[in-house]
Amino acid sequence: MMIKTIVFIGAGNVATQLGLAFKEAGFEILQVYSRTGKSATLLSNKLNCFATTDIKKIVTHADLYIFSVKDSALSKILRDFEVDNAFAVHTSGSIGLEVFRGLKLRYGVFYPLQTLSKSVRADFEKIPVCVEAQDVKHLNLLMRMGKKITRNVTHVNSQQRAVMHVAAVFACNFTNHLYAIADDLMEKENLSFDLLFPLIEETLRKVKNHKPYEVQTGPAVRNDKEIMQKHLQQLASLPAYQKIYNFISKSIIETKKRNS
Ligand SMILES: NC(=O)c1ccc[n+]([C@@H]2O[C@H](COP(=O)([O-])OP(=O)(O)OC[C@H]3O[C@@H](n4cnc5c(N)ncnc54)[C@H](OP(=O)(O)O)[C@@H]3O)[C@@H](O)[C@H]2O)c1
Repeated sequence: MMIKTIVFIGAGNVATQLGLAFKEAGFEILQVYSRTGKSATLLSNKLNCFATTDIKKIVTHADLYIFSVKDSALSKILRDFEVDNAFAVHTSGSIGLEVFRGLKLRYGVFYPLQTLSKSVRADFEKIPVCVEAQDVKHLNLLMRMGKKITRNVTHVNSQQRAVMHVAAVFACNFTNHLYAIADDLMEKENLSFDLLFPLIEETLRKVKNHKPYEVQTGPAVRNDKEIMQKHLQQLASLPAYQKIYNFISKSIIETKKRNS
């Protein structure tokens, strides 16, 4: 068996970008289901396929059903889609394979490790895709399918994927929030955030070849109490930023102690 036809259940960020990538790779997208007609139609127009908001009207002959919905909605939608023999995968970082047990006979996970948005076209070629399935046969199907859109398909089990998701929150979501703080501070002094781009790019370049803690710089790793105190005073009117500054500085000092 080969996967040739796909139905998307969910029409959000991930369904949009995976749908476009699979369509371009020659897969046939049969249908998009979503809770709202607006989301379903928006994606079905992009993928040139049918849309439905009625779970009972999802076609039953697709090779693969990609469930890409809000994590808290997944298990109910799996339950409501009563085609037990459908090969179903989800795209969540934090939900284990066990969510399918008792609900579907053939199942797996197809998790792209990237920040994806509806409106920003993703270049899948370099995006790591983590796959898991209930047996080797279905794992191989997902591996083969993944390789049609990316060079980087890896078998990752549910426990590893859950930890990876926490790591991704630190590496992407928290870092982005710290960029937002930096942007805000720069703006308050009429400085452009762009001035920080070379610094941000060099930090990324270094961690590609070194352990991040080895290339840590700044007042905290030097334990320069005077400068840290000065920075905290500068943030006196911004207590939320002050707290983050303190918390992360302490973590940097402790990490240095642990590794020296
Ligand atoms: N975005 C990322 O960067 C990313 C990356 C990797 C993995 N993931 C994972 O992929 C999955 C989908 O993420 P996403 O970013 O694509 O989500 P999303 O854009 O928020 O899309 C969510 C989809 O879930 C539907 N939905 C939301 N609440 C629902 C409810 N209560 N009942 C039924 N359907 C509901 C939405 O339907 P309507 O639009 O019709 O309301 C929409 O089709 C999640 O498990 C997420 O963790 C996300």
